[in-house]
Amino acid sequence: MEKILIVDDEAFIRENLERILAEDGYRPHSTESPEAAVQQVAEEEVDLVLLDLNLGDKSGLDVLREMREVDPDVLVIIITGYGTVESAVEALKMGAYDYIKKPFKADAIRLIVRLALETQSLRREVRQLRRESKERTILGDTEMVGSSPALLQVYRQVREVAKHELATVLITGESGTGKELVARAVHNMSPRKDRPFVEINCGSLPFNLLETELFGHERGAFTDAKNRKIGLFEEANGGTIFLDEIGEMDMNLQVKLLRVLEDRKIRRLGGTRNIDIDVRVIAATNRDMKEAIDDKTFREDLYYRLNVFPIQIPPLRERREDIPPLLDHFLKRFNREFNKKISEVSREALDLLMRYYWPGNVRELRNMVERICIMYNEPLIKKEFLPSEIWGEGPSKEAPFSFDIPPEGILLEELIGEVEKELIGKAIEITGGNVAKTARILNVPRGTLRYKLEKYDIE
Ligand SMILES: Nc1ncnc2c1ncn2[C@@H]1O[C@H](COP(=O)(O)OP(=O)(O)OP(=O)(O)O)[C@@H](O)[C@H]1O
Ligand SMILES: [Mg+2]
Repeated sequence: MEKILIVDDEAFIRENLERILAEDGYRPHSTESPEAAVQQVAEEEVDLVLLDLNLGDKSGLDVLREMREVDPDVLVIIITGYGTVESAVEALKMGAYDYIKKPFKADAIRLIVRLALETQSLRREVRQLRRESKERTILGDTEMVGSSPALLQVYRQVREVAKHELATVLITGESGTGKELVARAVHNMSPRKDRPFVEINCGSLPFNLLETELFGHERGAFTDAKNRKIGLFEEANGGTIFLDEIGEMDMNLQVKLLRVLEDRKIRRLGGTRNIDIDVRVIAATNRDMKEAIDDKTFREDLYYRLNVFPIQIPPLRERREDIPPLLDHFLKRFNREFNKKISEVSREALDLLMRYYWPGNVRELRNMVERICIMYNEPLIKKEFLPSEIWGEGPSKEAPFSFDIPPEGILLEELIGEVEKELIGKAIEITGGNVAKTARILNVPRGTLRYKLEKYDIE
């Protein structure tokens, strides 16, 4: 029900218009005061204004100007009396939608109002679509939301590497940043899009199971091998294999994988013959691979073999401008799914969401929106609807200090000790000296805390 504001100094006209418009199912309100009218336009959503040009002392043109100042998109139809057509043309120049001459017929009013509102709603739709299309990118069949410079760079990389059918891709990023989405996008954008996309989580299976999953086995290869099994590399032939959580892969299997990547051949377990494979490999990990190599849990040679084309997806907290469009995107989706009409996020709630650390990245945001859509049924998301960690009650992982290293270097151990002492001291202050509570807010075992209290001589 569109809200229509009627501004006229003649009571008869106001009543007449209200009646006609109410009959047509609109919500008409009227006033004779130009000031009240401008205020209403400023404060509430008014869909259409019917504005008389002769308002006693005040010129309708001035009122129009003021209305457009407080809301540049306001939709106004001018009502003109005899002899004021020139002013009406002036009003059109100032941005009024149309004008109608007094005396008017009810049908003429109905028609002009309907057309104006249709135009307005189309305009709004176009504006909304424009905004959304700027914030969404379709890669193949994959919809990616966000237009931060970091994501735009990711989209460019996806388009580029998709063209090179066999280039190996290594996607890195924290949990929930969209690695799997990007992997699918690479496949969907590539000439292989109609061929299989086969994925396997390398962290979910023990060594020997993962091995037979990947490479298959011949009948009788081991006791339980009653039939031949085709492995995922063969299944993915002509397409893409997605090795998720590659950082968790067993060292022994890493050797085998390296050989496969080099020779582009596999051999089923218990088999005697090499089988050529034509498969693009995409790997993903949320581990710091350099660290894994230092720890000797990941082979350096395999890392270089995989890292032919790296795509790094930054955490959400480093591209916070993507938060509002993602909220919008998931709200739409879960509104549809749960048949709700939650259309907006209050300013206070948005403030909290923009400041939050998002350790679980986009997945965490998505799950939060889903929960809210299940639990609430109000059009506006208030800050009370947000989970407690977003209120800042959860453990903060944001570093409170700078990590700059001056040219003269730093004393690492000493510095860390100082920081630790400082933080423990603060926590003790907050809890009033309660060790159990302090241990809880620092997320360390009580024993550890006692040891440190003693070490730093904290009372
Ligand atoms: N830019 C984005 N636009 C729309 N949805 C996204 C975006 N990034 C992530 N998502 C969504 O967030 C969720 C998590 O993404 P995904 O599973 O790809 O993350 P991941 O990096 O593989 O996480 P993990 O390391 O935990 O496996 C999915 O539902 C995904 O669709
Ligand atoms: Mg994943």
